[in-house]
Amino acid sequence: MISKISFSVVSISLFLGLALATIDEEQAGEVDFSYINGPTGPSNWGKLKPAFSPCSSGKNQSPVDIKTNDAVLNKNLAPLSLKYTALANATLINWGFIMGLHFDEGIGGMEINGKNYAFKQLHWHSPSEHLIDGERYAAEVHLVHEAEDGSSAVVAMLYQYGNTIVDLDPFLAKLKPGFEKLSKEKYEKNKVSQVPVGILPTGHITRNTRKYYRYVGSFTTPPCTENVIWTVLHKVRPISKEQVAALKAPLTAEYKNNARPEQQLNGRQIELHDELE
Ligand SMILES: *[C@@H]1O[C@H](CO)[C@@H](O)[C@H](O)[C@H]1NC(C)=O
Repeated sequence: MISKISFSVVSISLFLGLALATIDEEQAGEVDFSYINGPTGPSNWGKLKPAFSPCSSGKNQSPVDIKTNDAVLNKNLAPLSLKYTALANATLINWGFIMGLHFDEGIGGMEINGKNYAFKQLHWHSPSEHLIDGERYAAEVHLVHEAEDGSSAVVAMLYQYGNTIVDLDPFLAKLKPGFEKLSKEKYEKNKVSQVPVGILPTGHITRNTRKYYRYVGSFTTPPCTENVIWTVLHKVRPISKEQVAALKAPLTAEYKNNARPEQQLNGRQIELHDELE
């Protein structure tokens, strides 16, 4: 997931206002990491700048492989309640290395252990970053939430290819014209391109939360900051090949596959919440 984004943000801050409060001005600059093995690839992210050092020195990194047999049922984990406004005004953004959707302020959020986390943005990785029992899926969406103290909680949902027309993700379907518009724009380095997509219904985002995995990890893009509370939904959603292609289309070749490799658990335990158990 992304939080501190390596871009010059001055020109767009007028449009996005507080939605971009998570961007660290110190990180402003060009995208200087990639997903391709080599000097700027994932195994070297931690060396690219001092601020990125957690990417190599961190012991609680994300994503991870969720081995379902090793996940421990924790009856103290509360049901996941994503309380978003029914409708949310959004802007689709090409960050260069990822496609994201930023929301206006005040669209609700989630609560974990009595702490409130406001819903800020979502973005897509393809293929998926988290694995379930060693399997990598077609795509993954990260719903990024932030508390007043700056700490983050991310809800991840995985997608696999579906076969029929009804398998299309309805939320992505609504964004199709926006993706098309952005893919026609030539992406320029250091310039974030965006298109307002208007009011979106949020209802189907919050479905199928009965069973989830919980662990503490990190952002999956530099600076790989830790202490992020991850919630990975067990339910894998359907997506079409065309929708995955649409997610990748506006990105330049080196970012079309934007999944960070699997990170070691280093003794962390993944917990399971299941309302039926
Ligand atoms: C939605 O966001 C866009 C882009 O920021 C803005 O121009 C528009 O006025 C907003 N619409 C509503 C209803 O808030």
